[in-house]
Amino acid sequence: MIRTILGIESTAHTLGIGIVKDGKIKANEKSMLFEYGIHPRKTADHHADQIQNVMRTALQKAKLRMDEIDLVAFSQGPGIGPCLRISAIAARTLAIAYKIPVVGVNHCVAHIEISKYFTKFRDPLILYVSGGNTQILIKENERYHVLGETLDVGIGNMLDTFARSAGLKSAKDVEDKAKKGNKYIEMPYSVKGMDASFSGILTHSEKLIGKEKIEDICYSLQETAYAALCEITERALALTDKSEIIVCGGVAQNKRLQGMLSEMAKEWKCKFGVAPNEFNADNGGMIAYVGYKMTENKEILKHYILKENEIVPKPKYRTDEFIAKWD
Ligand code: FE2
Repeated sequence: MIRTILGIESTAHTLGIGIVKDGKIKANEKSMLFEYGIHPRKTADHHADQIQNVMRTALQKAKLRMDEIDLVAFSQGPGIGPCLRISAIAARTLAIAYKIPVVGVNHCVAHIEISKYFTKFRDPLILYVSGGNTQILIKENERYHVLGETLDVGIGNMLDTFARSAGLKSAKDVEDKAKKGNKYIEMPYSVKGMDASFSGILTHSEKLIGKEKIEDICYSLQETAYAALCEITERALALTDKSEIIVCGGVAQNKRLQGMLSEMAKEWKCKFGVAPNEFNADNGGMIAYVGYKMTENKEILKHYILKENEIVPKPKYRTDEFIAKWD
């Protein structure tokens, strides 16, 4: 019987190891490399260097030994090729050394599933916002369907790129500066049905650096981009008539975005939920948790277990490609 699952995450800047036992998260350890963006080779080297330490700490926290792990789940994609390769190699090595079955997890689905775990929402409308992804989704017939998405860059990449152009470190600094801004500067606003585009906001904001106060640029950039996200989410809500909304992914940690979405949800008499920050940032716990969902039915689990030559990364793995055969 499969009770204990080890999850490995390495799609981008974070190497994460999570352990789930009997459906409960027992460990969620991570090590991150983010130096003015992500350098694929340096980041993959960091993950390769750190994986043993992080795995050891996770096992210690969960009070388990490696030979007590029943299943390895690894983040198969989407993500950065060299980074993804580290978790795939680790999963394959563990499979051979300990004769443990391995399953591949779609990273985006893991963000959604861990949010459902924390919010206890069963059938939400999902806004998934991270560095590389910006999507609105619902689950139907064992798949997450994309109703709308970014037409160019992911919202998180837009925020990080602007941060670097302005001499800031990351999107978190943009959020902090925006709190001190009070003058709204008009920005390009591009919404097309349930899709949105963010590159115009980025170019315009970059041109304002040095001409306007950085706090006001950050404030205006956030207000405009998040208004676009709220508009497309609201349109999807009107279409689907859902009664729950989840925001997930790295950018879901932004308090202003959470505030705008929860206000909109209230107007629609909808529940609004978000996972704790630790689980909206990339992490191994969410990967282990999807591994656990796969074990709920033995018949279904058979379809997820990979052959040795199938334990490979899928850098362009789309959310709607993954079959999620559970409630
Ligand atoms: Fe992510």
